Parts: sequence; C-alpha cells; structure tokens
Amino acid sequence: MIKKVEFTSMNDGTKNDYDLIAIHDSQNERQLLDRIINWLKMMDGESPYKISRLQHCLQTATRAENDGADTETIVCALMHDIGDVISPSNHSQVSAALLRPYVSKKNYWIVLNHGLFQGYYWMHHYDENRNLRDKYKDHPYYQDCVDFCSKWDQKSFDPDFETKPLEYFKPMIKEIFSREPRPFV
Ligand SMILES: [Fe+2]
Repeated sequence: MIKKVEFTSMNDGTKNDYDLIAIHDSQNERQLLDRIINWLKMMDGESPYKISRLQHCLQTATRAENDGADTETIVCALMHDIGDVISPSNHSQVSAALLRPYVSKKNYWIVLNHGLFQGYYWMHHYDENRNLRDKYKDHPYYQDCVDFCSKWDQKSFDPDFETKPLEYFKPMIKEIFSREPRPFV
C-alpha cells in the first residue's frame, strides 16, 4: 500500500507531503524504460509506409549508429517520432519534450524541429513552401537538423535495410534515461 499525502487541496500540503511525492516521482522515473519500450511497441502497427512506424524509428537509429553517432544521438534518432503515438499533428514537440531533460540542447532542438525540416521532402507536393526550415538558416543547429533528416530520417522507410531490433537499443535507452533529469529553464 503506497503511503498517501494528508491533503485534498495542494494549498494545504506540508513539506512532508511534498517529500513523499518527490520520493514517489523519482521511483516513478526509474520505470521509464519499460514505458518507453511499450510506447515504441505501439508504433508497430499497420502503416501506409512500406514498414511500420516502429521499424522506421529503428532504422533511423541504426543509420545513426552506422554513421558513428554517440549513444545519446542514437536514442534521439530512435525516439524522434515517438510523439506520433499520442499527438500525430504535434509529434516533434511531444518527442522533444520527452527527451529534453536527458539530452543536449542541440539534440533537443533537432528533435523539436525535425518535423518542419522534413517538410522539405513533401510539402511542395501540396503547393506549400518546402523551404520553411530556412527561417532557421542562421541557427547554430540548422545544418545538424538538415543532416539528421537527409542522412537518417527521410531515407529510413526501406524494408530491405538491415535494421537492428528494439531489444538491441534497450541498454542505450536505459543509459540515457538513467541520467539526472535537467530541470526546465
Ligand atoms: Fe521520422
């Protein structure tokens, strides 16, 4: 039985109550790995692409690793579309928010903006501006995001590409999500 707080309104909470919640929250974070894995597995359904959304994520991560990316970048590649599960029209922001406390500002920025940058590959088919990403042309991470999309994301829809399984990436996810979370500033 989990010990409960005394209050029914936050306004009445004591430090003891909030200590209790803090302990629970930190234990909660320790179970993140299983939840992330389950969330990724939810992307393994039917899709109009030649491979599932999960396979796309695995392939993106495999390409990142094959190109010598570090563990954090590989995990970002693996999880860059994870927001699709719950927020398809806002997936970059959701994926980035999940990763933000555990990754560099650069990797956060890449995941946050990759949806817009990926627009380069399809928006012109709808008479829209495929170069919307150019509004960030002078941003220090602009080229990194262009490269993420061109080298890994946009080409990872290939059923014939040798892609590592989800199990392979588990230790990497564990490593990154075991870090002390960075507070939002
Ligand atoms: Fe993607």
